[in-house]
Amino acid sequence: MAARGQFSTRIGFILAAAGSAIGLGNVWGFPTNVASNGGAAFVLVYLILAFLLAYPVLMVELLVGRHYQSNPVNAYRKLTGNIIGAIVGVIGLLTVSFILSFYAIVGGWIVTWCLHYFAMALGMTEAANWLVTFGNMRNVIFTVIFFVLTAAIVRNGVSEGIEKWSTRLMPLFFLIIILLIIYVATLDGAGEGFRAYLTPDFSIITDPELIINAMGQAFFSLSLAVGTMLVYGSYISKKENIVSLGIWVAVLDISIAIVAGLLIIPAMYVAQANGVQIYDEAGALISSDGLLFSVLPSLFETMTSTAIIVPIAFFTLMIIAAVTSSISMLEVPVSFAIENHNLTRNKATFLIAGSILLISLIIVFNFGSLFGLVITATTEWSQPLLGLVISIFAGWLWHRNNILEEIKEGNPDAANGLFFKIWPWYIKFVCPALIALMFWRSL
Ligand code: TRP
Repeated sequence: MAARGQFSTRIGFILAAAGSAIGLGNVWGFPTNVASNGGAAFVLVYLILAFLLAYPVLMVELLVGRHYQSNPVNAYRKLTGNIIGAIVGVIGLLTVSFILSFYAIVGGWIVTWCLHYFAMALGMTEAANWLVTFGNMRNVIFTVIFFVLTAAIVRNGVSEGIEKWSTRLMPLFFLIIILLIIYVATLDGAGEGFRAYLTPDFSIITDPELIINAMGQAFFSLSLAVGTMLVYGSYISKKENIVSLGIWVAVLDISIAIVAGLLIIPAMYVAQANGVQIYDEAGALISSDGLLFSVLPSLFETMTSTAIIVPIAFFTLMIIAAVTSSISMLEVPVSFAIENHNLTRNKATFLIAGSILLISLIIVFNFGSLFGLVITATTEWSQPLLGLVISIFAGWLWHRNNILEEIKEGNPDAANGLFFKIWPWYIKFVCPALIALMFWRSL
């Protein structure tokens, strides 16, 4: 079997893992959640949960991954010493595959919207309209295209594929998002959006619904509990201080969610100032796919044709966000196929991307009944439950000496550090209790 891949630089890992974490969850999910959950109240709860719950779970995955130098199935099998660990690894692997199956459909839509504006600029109105009209044909073609993009990167391996593309694309992402925020801030109505974003409605801050949403959002956004971060962790060099790497990834992800809010929420109010409806008849905010594929495009439509660069920049931003995340999902089953079934990376990528594409196509052809169901089952059920289980693994089954040994790699004074003093008992008691409590309340 070929040697395992490894990230070649510290910044390469940070950008790849941040690229995984920063995705549609930040640019779309987070602002939507904010807008429909009391504005800044949601931001506050999210911040607390992200640091107190998601970051410690992120560290479980990074530490376990680097310690066992393997995919989640082998890593958890070794950690638990029995088949239960392997089963949990397999469930994670299946969950992330199903997440990719719907993520790729949405990724395809984003590609269509980007091309839509190119077609408009070229005066190809008919093609432009076809691109953004919901239909099986369109959905199939662009889901396939999205898989091709994802697989083309993953087949080149960790440093030559994932790391290379993340270090190219993520700086571009940061640049585009800043330019877009500055641009939107100059438009009429943006001020009201900033106010709505930053004024909390504290009356709902203890609403269990809000807290559950914030937890789900945090788990999804940090790509947790399904093996993505474990696999990326397994590619970190033993020379690196893993605790600080984890902080970097968490801080970048959380900041970009908040920054994306500064773009999307003012943009919604600009749209409203231009006569676009952003609340539905019931007074609820038009959210989920309505926000991305109807509110913002209506906003773009009200801009003059000279500003076609704005929607193109926006959907390019979304494509970068989506692809640097989808590669991290595909890498989980691919690493398993390479290590446990002795496939070459090329073959593994091809076979697995093809199989998950089949799932996507089944969803496309049964859209009404399957799309929402798969999202709910994976992100609201499987992900938090797996988070609970892996915290228990790390807290109760993983030897304290093993943990210390792993933290000490690349960070010799770790034994005196705050992280080692707090994290082992925190992950043992606090994390499982918090997740279980929230889970129970959501039932
Ligand atoms: N975190 C990414 C986002 O915010 C999506 C993502 C990548 C993900 N890998 C994952 C979500 C694993 C859940 C599990 O869009």
